[in-house]
Amino acid sequence: MNSHELRQKYLDFFKSHNHAVISGASLIPENDPTVLFTTAGMHPLVPYLLGEKHPSGTRLVNVQKCIRTGDIDEVGDKTHHTFFEMMGNWSLGDYFKPESINYSWEFLTDPKWLGLDKNRLAVSVFEGDADAPYDEEAYNLWAEIFKKNNLPLERIAKLPKKNNWWGPAGATGPCGPDIEIFYWGGAANQVPGSFNDDNEAWIEIWNNVFMQYNKNAAGKFEPLAQKNVDTGLGLERVLAVMNGLDDNYKTDLFSHIIKKIEDLTLNPKTGDRHIYGESPETTRAMRIIADHLKAATFIIGDDRGVSPSNTDQGYVVRRLIRRAIRYAKLIGIKEAHFTSEIAKIVIVQYKNIYPELEMNQDFIIENLVKEENKFVGTLEKGLIEFNKLATDGISGKEAFKLYQSYGFPLEITEELAKEKGVTIDRTGFEVELQKHQSLSRTASAGKFKGGLADAGEETTKLHTAAHLLLASLRRVLGDHVTQKGSNITPERLRLDFSHPDKMTPIQIKQVEDLVNGAIKNDFKVVCEELSLEEAKKRGAMGVFDSKYGEKVKVYTICHLGEGNILAPECLKSAFSQEICGGPHVANTEVLGHFSIQKEEASSAGVRRIKAVLTK
Ligand code: ALA
Repeated sequence: MNSHELRQKYLDFFKSHNHAVISGASLIPENDPTVLFTTAGMHPLVPYLLGEKHPSGTRLVNVQKCIRTGDIDEVGDKTHHTFFEMMGNWSLGDYFKPESINYSWEFLTDPKWLGLDKNRLAVSVFEGDADAPYDEEAYNLWAEIFKKNNLPLERIAKLPKKNNWWGPAGATGPCGPDIEIFYWGGAANQVPGSFNDDNEAWIEIWNNVFMQYNKNAAGKFEPLAQKNVDTGLGLERVLAVMNGLDDNYKTDLFSHIIKKIEDLTLNPKTGDRHIYGESPETTRAMRIIADHLKAATFIIGDDRGVSPSNTDQGYVVRRLIRRAIRYAKLIGIKEAHFTSEIAKIVIVQYKNIYPELEMNQDFIIENLVKEENKFVGTLEKGLIEFNKLATDGISGKEAFKLYQSYGFPLEITEELAKEKGVTIDRTGFEVELQKHQSLSRTASAGKFKGGLADAGEETTKLHTAAHLLLASLRRVLGDHVTQKGSNITPERLRLDFSHPDKMTPIQIKQVEDLVNGAIKNDFKVVCEELSLEEAKKRGAMGVFDSKYGEKVKVYTICHLGEGNILAPECLKSAFSQEICGGPHVANTEVLGHFSIQKEEASSAGVRRIKAVLTK
């Protein structure tokens, strides 16, 4: 089974159970200050898990591209990835445990779908603790299925929160007990009678989260009014299982990339080249290069694509590319611009599923070439310097020198230090960094942990203010202005937008006046569900790619006609129309007073505004 077939089977199965197929979201989350990347399929759905109405209904399914940076150091083994695809299905206050468990069982074991050997499956359920009780219902549902199929009940494990609880992805938000489904990857005639978490041959393939709690700011788990199901299966893993492979990098999602990496190691003089599998070191290096450059290609090539830089997502891309370059050197890749050669293979492999990669191909290549040029020149010298320094531990000053003069991300220096068995003063490095620049480098800010946007009153207000701001910027600066990113905390909003020049004080004042005028006008904020075509015909702003023809929400900020009707004249004179998931306030008057605190460059051709609302 190839990756296309697997994605399609998954979507078709849940379609046959009345789920609406929805498009995946961008890798760069919108309006979420606590996380850099989309880390799971549920991430873009948080407002709906908390009760917002979804335009496609209460049963959803999709395949979501994800980036997880927490495991970068583990990449290099058979199963860890920075970029991966999550197949997911959701019930938004619709079905709950019985249906979810039965769907999973049917999809995995019915010959019409995946037809996996039942005897190779095991599951685990939440054993209960002070926060929430033992999930007896889930256990009983599985016990019934296992008995019916003559499978030993010892393959149903009861495990603690560490194993069988998911979320919240940040400090607060929806969460709950989960069940995990495992597949025995060892020999068919050696399946153990019971499930054992420590045995690595049991591969976790599916996680069904029963979101019945909301963790609040006080750390309490309060029952959610709307009980949801959130599931996720890793495409790469399941594909390996379906093909009897014990290594995700041997599936079609990686094999072409690995082949290209092998070719790039060719020594033209001797005709020798390195082959995947020839030694553990070569294999690990090839996996790291393949994983990191695939992830970099997707991050740069996203609809909200990000270039390498020293902050936030840009720093992660930089770190991925530079680490890939270091490993490429270890296996003898000499070709200039090899990173873009590998990106081209990634684009060909994925463009049918993710057309944005082909659309942004030039941007991807340009950025990779630039980043490679920057680092290749200093890598060698930096390594010589490192070896000089690394006699007895790396001080903060020394790590900073490697960062500043040779472009070594701290994590690369840390990795080198670990290989050499010397220590590194991370805190000292941070102190130096603070001294030299006021960068908020995310690795140190702990933002990698992930988190969720909250839909509190203040963030909701700022979210509506962000719509007013974008519309006002377009009026003052011109129609070339589009949103490049947004990040909202309860304290302030931050909007990135395309514009070549620094704004003048007069322009800033004009924009503030327009926003405050709109607030005073007490416009209504109206939500409609439209097809993407209708939304575009209206001139609604916003990035949205509707692959499956699903409806989108459009928020219009305007005066209503007589009888509170959104009449055609209202639309014509609307202050703002944006495709957006919400939530928003109902009328603008509640926003108070809007002021811009800062206007600065974000990256080439992109400006960034920070603004607040006061009473
Ligand atoms: N949100 C769950 C996960 O990421 C399904 O595993």
